[in-house]
Amino acid sequence: MLRRGFSILLLVALAVELSFWFGAGVSVNDKDVWSSSSEKGINGGRSLEVRFDGAATHWTDALPVGNGRLVDVVLFAWKGNERWFQFCMLVQMLNKLLQPWTPENGMGFSIVNCLFHCPDLEDTLWTGTPGDYADPDAPTTLSEVRKLVDSGKYAEATAVAANLSGNPSAVYQLLGDIKLEFDESHAAFDKGTYQRVLDLDTATVKVQYSVNQVEFERDYFASYPDEVIVMKISVNKSSSLNFTVSLDSKLHHHAYANNNSQIILDGRCPVRRIPPHVFGNSIPKERDALGPVQHTNPKGIEYFAVLDLQIGDGVGDVHVLDGRKLQVVGCNWAVIRLTAASTFDGPFTDPVDSKRDPSSESLKKMDAAKAHSYADLYSRHVNDYQALFHRVSLQLTKGPTNATKNDKDGVMTTAERVKSFKIDEDPSLVELLFQYGRYLLIACSRPGSQPANLQGIWNKDIEPAWDGAPHLNINLQMNYWPSLSCNLKECQEPLFDYISSLSVNGKKTAQVNYGASGWVTHQVSDIWAKTSADRGQAVWALWPMGGAWLCTHLWDHYAYTMDKEFLRNKAYPLMEGCASFLLDWLIEGPGGRLETNPSTSPEHTFTAPDGKPASVSYSATMDMQIIREVFSNIVSAAEELGKSDDLIARVRKAQARLRSTTIAKDESIMEWAEEFADPEVHHRHLSHLFGLFPGHSINVGQTPDLCKAAEKTLIKRGEEGPGWSTTWKAASWARLHNSEHAYRMVKHLFDLVEPSHESDFEGGLYANLFTAHPPFQIDANFGFSAAVAEMLVQSSVRHLYLLPALPREKWANGCAKGLKVHGGLTVSVCWSEGDLDQLGIWSNNAGNGVKTLHYRGAAATANISSGMLYTFNSHLECVDTRTLL
Ligand SMILES: *[C@@H]1O[C@H](CO)[C@@H](O)[C@H](O)[C@H]1NC(C)=O
Ligand SMILES: *[C@@H]1O[C@H](CO)[C@@H](O)[C@H](O)[C@H]1NC(C)=O
Ligand SMILES: *[C@@H]1O[C@H](CO)[C@@H](O)[C@H](O)[C@H]1NC(C)=O
Ligand SMILES: *[C@@H]1O[C@H](CO)[C@@H](O)[C@H](O)[C@H]1NC(C)=O
Ligand SMILES: *[C@@H]1O[C@H](CO)[C@@H](O)[C@H](O)[C@H]1NC(C)=O
Ligand SMILES: *[C@@H]1O[C@H](CO)[C@@H](O)[C@H](O)[C@H]1NC(C)=O
Repeated sequence: MLRRGFSILLLVALAVELSFWFGAGVSVNDKDVWSSSSEKGINGGRSLEVRFDGAATHWTDALPVGNGRLVDVVLFAWKGNERWFQFCMLVQMLNKLLQPWTPENGMGFSIVNCLFHCPDLEDTLWTGTPGDYADPDAPTTLSEVRKLVDSGKYAEATAVAANLSGNPSAVYQLLGDIKLEFDESHAAFDKGTYQRVLDLDTATVKVQYSVNQVEFERDYFASYPDEVIVMKISVNKSSSLNFTVSLDSKLHHHAYANNNSQIILDGRCPVRRIPPHVFGNSIPKERDALGPVQHTNPKGIEYFAVLDLQIGDGVGDVHVLDGRKLQVVGCNWAVIRLTAASTFDGPFTDPVDSKRDPSSESLKKMDAAKAHSYADLYSRHVNDYQALFHRVSLQLTKGPTNATKNDKDGVMTTAERVKSFKIDEDPSLVELLFQYGRYLLIACSRPGSQPANLQGIWNKDIEPAWDGAPHLNINLQMNYWPSLSCNLKECQEPLFDYISSLSVNGKKTAQVNYGASGWVTHQVSDIWAKTSADRGQAVWALWPMGGAWLCTHLWDHYAYTMDKEFLRNKAYPLMEGCASFLLDWLIEGPGGRLETNPSTSPEHTFTAPDGKPASVSYSATMDMQIIREVFSNIVSAAEELGKSDDLIARVRKAQARLRSTTIAKDESIMEWAEEFADPEVHHRHLSHLFGLFPGHSINVGQTPDLCKAAEKTLIKRGEEGPGWSTTWKAASWARLHNSEHAYRMVKHLFDLVEPSHESDFEGGLYANLFTAHPPFQIDANFGFSAAVAEMLVQSSVRHLYLLPALPREKWANGCAKGLKVHGGLTVSVCWSEGDLDQLGIWSNNAGNGVKTLHYRGAAATANISSGMLYTFNSHLECVDTRTLL
């Protein structure tokens, strides 16, 4: 983490914003479908840039680009053999003169002059092979734990429950680095000319600087349609571009130049992971800490990457150096393309048996990418990206007098803006961070890719923090919070494919470990769709609600999109398996109530009545809230699909017997079934508020008492915590329609983390706007976008709340356009001087919907027909109706 250097940069593409008015044509973006007649002085042309004016000293100064890719264009091909690909990179420009990048810091190569270092990530590169995830010893331990819980021996139950722990997950790996080496003169660039910028509008990074009146420029993007990373390196003085390029990797590999235009990197991931760091006490039951190896000839995932170099105008020469580097001399510009593939062929195929041939796949992709000129690749990329990104716009300003003054981009670096947020509270920085979450989701989760992991896809380590594994007790779910409300539903597809895989492995885990039907998934997973408990203490490892929480995303997807095919074919079968596991997992307790046992409130320890620390008890509030949500979802789904069978009948009966959310003596929501003493009241998780957000069982319309208790609970929890805790709190306060507290949490995130002593921070933002746990963890980037959307529009099947948590003083004027709400509707809303101005609502194809509109206590009914666009005024009166074209 002590590297000095400078990182990349940016791009500008002045995208000309076309402004459409009502119903202007088929390819209109949602943000342009409706405009307020009174949108005055809202600055819609602000650039969305993450900007640096100098070298990167830390990895979190790099600018992320990325893309996912599917090869077989089959929507919802969740069974079968779809091939997919995703390639991302972080680009850093390192400057030797600041501090050399040495072999000691793990890179294993020496530096020649200036170096541009670009870790390339392929999201299928993980350690390991398919696993078993079943433990035949579990039932004995389980009944022992249950007995101890029943007799109130929670500390003892906690100790024994550690024997229910499974193997550790596999570890996310990184493919390698592209190294661009320039001569030393580049370190002496003219001050004031250096810029590196990520332009969210075009998903492109541009670096620019001048050396002795010669201007150098590098542009980078990752193309989803062409499955390729592209860089263009150019200079504005003819024949004066010199550099070398090579590939390297920390994994076992072989890198060589094929000829003077191609470099190949091939290698493989380890089968066995490095032994995990185990926190807390030792693990009572010794297991193979390295994970399963079930075959005699272990072979990890193999990969193959191709780099192609093209020099422009026929000017200059390329030489092969040392058989592995390409040296470019005296050219005008060069384009580098990079493709890659792996042998990963789904979570159930052992790499040994994979039919995939990564070398021919990557070479084929390269041939296809070379058939397009740079300009073509660029425009294909931008068209693909903007079709998603341009669906939503957000403009926030403090007030008319400051409408232009608070636009500081182009002048200040993003890090300076983050720092000054504490004073100026510049709303345009909120816009940027909101859109950055959308950008990152598009960049790391596209149909066919793996779901976004703990770091999305951006990782610099062979041993990333927490293995880079998906964590299912908040983090993986938070990654997908903005996908629906922020109009990126396609980006959630990888999650649904993943749930399908979990349901396969999880069926075995449910059956063998718990004697239950259906499927179960615990807290930590990996690319092999691991479903068993994590290795370690019960407080984090033993939490069997991961799959159930994920299942709520299936129903929410339907509730927002009204996609019945999805509900019938993809979602419902998974929800059925989940509900049937939950029915079996629930145990009849005293008074006919249904209980869970064992049960933990994620990662939180309590003090048992005998004074001992414990984490295992029964019926933690979160269990009950998740189960309630899943049951209510499947009942609604069955109604939508006209199904009524034995399972639904059992679910309906069970619903009435679930423990309800209970209020404690101190008027907060109880976290456990008993009022245990809580030695850590400021704990980072808001598990017992699941029902408030992202769940729906605690809501202002129906459960005012629980809302009051939820407010107490949030106050009691306090404001400190990792980034994801901050954004969870922001969204929860928004659900309580409390703009003051929601905004406090928004503001809380704008804390510039110093990477050299990041452990002194809680939450916050790095200079590249990555969110910090710390370390970097991407969940809060997504949680932030979702929370801001939640402050502006909230919906349920019947209700639509407008500006429910708008900080009126802070964001006095604004428009949020193209947000999605329940029922397949799209909403654009504008306000001025803190008051609702106008809103537009429409439904493209999802059928009709009747909604009650709510704004500050006023309510009105809106009957929205498909294909129509409605405009409402500040009194919620419909003032205009027209046909969508
Ligand atoms: C866990 O299992 C091992 C092996 O079966 C056993 O020796 C040990 O006593 C168990 N630990 C607890 C706390 O029950
Ligand atoms: C190249 O760019 C530099 C810096 O902008 C400028 O001073 C110089 O005149 C340009 N040279 C040419 C040949 O355009
Ligand atoms: C590029 O490299 C060649 C060969 O080493 C050298 O002659 C030339 O001066 C270099 N050009 C620049 C602009 O540094
Ligand atoms: C280098 O090798 C690749 C793969 O064989 C081939 O497609 C490409 O045309 C070659 N380039 C040159 C300059 O020979
Ligand atoms: C505009 O900004 C200035 C300086 O930040 C501040 O003092 C003033 O109150 C702001 N005006 C409005 C209307 O927000
Ligand atoms: C909503 O509008 C549709 C189509 O105009 C109509 O058939 C339906 O009865 C209306 N529903 C309500 C509740 O007004």
